Amino acid sequence: MTQNQPIGIFDSGVGGTSIWKEIAALLPSEDCIFLADSKYAPYGKRSKDEILQLSIKNTEKLLALNSKIIVVACNTATTNAIKTLRDTYDVPFIGIEPAIKPAAIHTKTKKVGVLATKGTLSSELFAQTSDLYAQNIEVIEVIGTGLVELIEEGEIRSKKMLHLLQSYMDPMLEKDIDHLVLGCTHYPYLIPVLKKILPSKVTIIDSGEAVARQTKAVLAINGILNSKSDLGTHQLYTNANPEILADIVASTTVSPTVSFLNF
Ligand code: SIN
Repeated sequence: MTQNQPIGIFDSGVGGTSIWKEIAALLPSEDCIFLADSKYAPYGKRSKDEILQLSIKNTEKLLALNSKIIVVACNTATTNAIKTLRDTYDVPFIGIEPAIKPAAIHTKTKKVGVLATKGTLSSELFAQTSDLYAQNIEVIEVIGTGLVELIEEGEIRSKKMLHLLQSYMDPMLEKDIDHLVLGCTHYPYLIPVLKKILPSKVTIIDSGEAVARQTKAVLAINGILNSKSDLGTHQLYTNANPEILADIVASTTVSPTVSFLNF
């Protein structure tokens, strides 16, 4: 592995670009390749073995494209596949965990909401994180059924999305949460809609910045942080509709190249 190779990032779909944006902002000299596996989204509905096979497929594609590190920008793939990926391939892997720790530290009502896929909420890793950091607080878990599908269809600001999110927030608001943890990398794109629903006292937390900082630290430890002074290049690939991927990253300060790739 050398410092000039790109950072490889994959997600079950377009949502992982929320992680790519944070990496691009923190590490402007790095080249990035992002794979949106939208053809097979959502992973949350798939079996553990299917998620593992898809994660292996994406990893091998990113390695064929010369990646020096792989960021699994998907909570569901992290939970189901990262251990095997780390045991199988000789590059560092970064995974995503719901940010329960900061929410548990800062909550005043001692009630924290977590919105995530079924695959994440029912995982061992989530149970361990919750047990470790949220012992004295009540965690209100809600499965975001249908949210990933709507985002993948480009329906972020639709009435259907607003109503669905309202129905997921209601049980959390009844319990008086003051922090909402977004446990899926698609969900940061819902923050503008969530802000219409939630009172201002509710802080929304996602994992993007923490993952970018962790990626930087792991690159530095391995001596592969890119030291060039030029800005990095960004190739975003999807195996579905490139227009949806291009639309979701349209307001980013970095200008990526967005294209279709068969993988
Ligand atoms: C999914 O594909 O079901 C969601 C992705 C995630 O958990 O981040």
